[in-house]
Parts: sequence; structure tokens; C-alpha cells
Amino acid sequence: MEPTQFSLTQSDIPRHYYNLVADLPTPPVPPLHPGTKQPLDPAMLEPLFPKGLIEQEVSGAAEIPIADEILDLYATFRPTPLVRARRLERALRTPARIYYKYEGASPTGSHKLNTAIAQAYYNSKEGVKRIATETGAGQWGTALALAGSYFGIPVTVYMVRVSYDQKPYRRAIIHAYGAEIFPSPSTKTNAGRQVLEKTPNSPGSLGIAISEAVEDAVTHPDTKYSLGSVLNHVMLHQSIIGQEAKKQMALAGDYPDVVVACHGGGSNFAGISFPFLRDKINGRQVRCLAAEPSSCPSLTKGEYRYDFGDTAELTPLVKMYTLGHDFIPPGIHAGGLRYHGASPLVSQTLASGLIEAAAFPQAEVFEAALLFARTEGIVPAPESAHAIRATVVEAKRAAEEGKARVILFNLSGHGQLDLGAYEAYQAGTLNGNGNGNGASAAAQAK
Ligand SMILES: Cc1ncc(COP(=O)(O)O)c(C=O)c1O
Repeated sequence: MEPTQFSLTQSDIPRHYYNLVADLPTPPVPPLHPGTKQPLDPAMLEPLFPKGLIEQEVSGAAEIPIADEILDLYATFRPTPLVRARRLERALRTPARIYYKYEGASPTGSHKLNTAIAQAYYNSKEGVKRIATETGAGQWGTALALAGSYFGIPVTVYMVRVSYDQKPYRRAIIHAYGAEIFPSPSTKTNAGRQVLEKTPNSPGSLGIAISEAVEDAVTHPDTKYSLGSVLNHVMLHQSIIGQEAKKQMALAGDYPDVVVACHGGGSNFAGISFPFLRDKINGRQVRCLAAEPSSCPSLTKGEYRYDFGDTAELTPLVKMYTLGHDFIPPGIHAGGLRYHGASPLVSQTLASGLIEAAAFPQAEVFEAALLFARTEGIVPAPESAHAIRATVVEAKRAAEEGKARVILFNLSGHGQLDLGAYEAYQAGTLNGNGNGNGASAAAQAK
């Protein structure tokens, strides 16, 4: 039997988060206050986040210990598997050795639970009574709904309208975990009502949904806000993915030439790649490649500048690759990749040439997703399928060059609640570039 899975034991679950900030050649620039545009005092974030998370957000320490209560919950599903995709390699006739880290093995089906647990824990420790958040495709809302239930905190989710319509079972699972959920733009907030006045059929965007969740938090003193990506503390929490993957690659006797992950706000990409970037900064050869949709190309076509994280200009300004905070992306099915910006840390690594980025159209992504499903058996989340498409391109290049490259990618989630999109793709009704408007994409999925 050929070795295919590289399994760790529970004692291998990382005991600390890895913080790339400590190893970056230049320190990150500070966020700016949305009103004064002056560097933000971290204490000003307290209406939004518990102090424990603010400390992590601004920490320069390389290693931050993981609390026992969080580790106990990680132990219910971690370490996640690392698998050699031998059947995909054979289908591609490539000499490349392809490995994937499978974060879809978490109870909610994606990497998002890694940070949801940590965020709910710090909120519960500081007596927060409710958490408001946004969700794109629904993976983040699902993860936070479960984490809220673990720690007894009610969760309110603003779900981007186009995904709310495309994925009815996402709503059902979020309800099943006990959270409340509203399509965004909603009539619950000023930010939502303003958008609806101008655009009654707005498909929504992550930027709008963030505005609604932030407004909900700042107008209710017992409520905090939670973000599933972009911020430094989220990158930190996800670093357990790459730390495990490094140990598993060592078990396989390999080290990646290239580490690939899809990119929405940057957390799963940072999660798998930052521990490898630490090696790169210390002189090891490794490429890290972020894969994004060509219809929402923040890294490949965005500008590197200060911008708001949300549409209504309620959040601090952060320096990032951005398409502009009023950008409304087409209603592609990879709803979790429809964000106008990028994590400031990922942006800094791209600007300084430490990482690479590439963009892929929706139809190519679904083609790669089906090849993966038919060879490896897992139907990937449309977001994760961007990493598969990038992997296929790398593997084909390896075949052309006759090089036995080692490719590691993060399979950030499964797509079992995205089957409407797969049906639409197979029926030929899905827009190839995702360039239709959100409403028509939603209609296609029905
Ligand atoms: C399965 C999956 N992968 C990736 C992403 C993209 O987010 P991030 O770039 O923060 O990892 C999402 C976001 O919803 C997702 O659901």
C-alpha cells in the first residue's frame, strides 16, 4: 500500500499560535482612525472586540500560547488530515507530488472554526452577551454559530444576500446551531437601509454585511463584533494549519516547493503559508501562492493603500490591496472570496515580494473542482476550488518541465452545501467568469 495519509496524534496539536509579525523584515504600519485618520490607539477597538483579542491583534511576539479551553475544543477535530492526492496526480499525468491539508474535516466543514472557537472563548471570558458578525458563503457564520453555542453566547449573522438566496441550507445549519440570521443588506441597520434605498435589489457584499454587523455591535453595549478573516488575530489563529502541515510533510519525507491556498480575506492562505514563510525568511526555498477569483481580484488588480474594511466607512482604515470599499463583486458562487480587500499582513508579504498571487475565472475553477471530486472523492467548497485550480496549473507546468515539484495546498472546506452551484455548472447555466450580476447568479442556482 502506498502511504497516502500522514497522521499526527493529539499531542501534536500546536500549543501556540505563530505570529509572522515577529519575523517580518519591516514592522506593519498601524491602522488609522476612520474619523481623524490618525494612527489608532488599540483601546479604541474595545467597543468592537474583547481585550484578549485586541492584545493578540497588536502583539509582536512570535509565539502566543493557546488557552486550554480552546485546545480542548481543537482536540475534537484536530489535527486535520494531510493527504497525498495520488489519483489527482495520475489524472494530471504529472511528476509533481501533490498534498492537501483538509480543513473541511472540522465539524462545520471549513477552517473557519479554528478562529471562531478562539474568538468566542475570549468574548465569553470577558462576559460579552452577544456577538454580531457577517458571513459571505456562510462557512464563517456557521462556524461562529457553533462556537457561540459551545460558549453559551448568542450569535447574530448578517449573510450577504446573494449567498443567502443561493445557499438555503446554510441558513438552516446556522439556525440549527442556535444563531439568528438576516440577509444583508437588511432593514435592521442604518447601513443596510441606506443601501436598500438606493439599490432595493442589491446582491449585497461582504463590505455591506460588515458595516451592518459593526453597527449592530457599537449600538448595543453588551454586544461585540467578530470578523472571520482579514485581521491579524485571525491570521494568528489559523497558523495552526501550517504548523500541523509542516510536521505532516516531514512525516511524508517531503517539503513543499510551493504552498497554495485560496484568498478571500487571507486567513486560510495565511494559516497554511505563514509558518512556511518563516522558513523562507530564514533562507529556505519555498513559494507561497494565493489564488483568487478573476471577478474579485484584490491581490492581482487592487491598489496597495489605506482603505476601509467596510462599505459604510465604520471600520478603521487599514493598509491593504483593495478594489475600493464600495466595490460590489459579481455574484460568483465562491461567496467567501467576494471581499474588496485583503489582510494587511498578506498584503505586506505580497508588496514585499515574499508571496505570489494569481486569479482564476469561475468556470475553470469548477472544472478543477469536479476533477478533484472525481479523483479524490471530496466535493470542495467553491472557494477552496480556486486553490485546486492553481494546483492543477502548477502540476501541469511541472509535467511540461519534467520536474517532480512538491505542491501543498489547503483544502479549506467541503462543498456539500454548495451543490446548487455544482448543478448549475453541470447544466451549463453558470456564468463562466462570474461576471453576471448577483441576482442572475442567484437565479441560476435555484
Ligand atoms: C471554505 C472557505 N475557504 C476560504 C474562504 C476565504 O476566506 P479566507 O481568505 O479568510 O480564508 C472562505 C470564506 O468564507 C471559505 O468559506
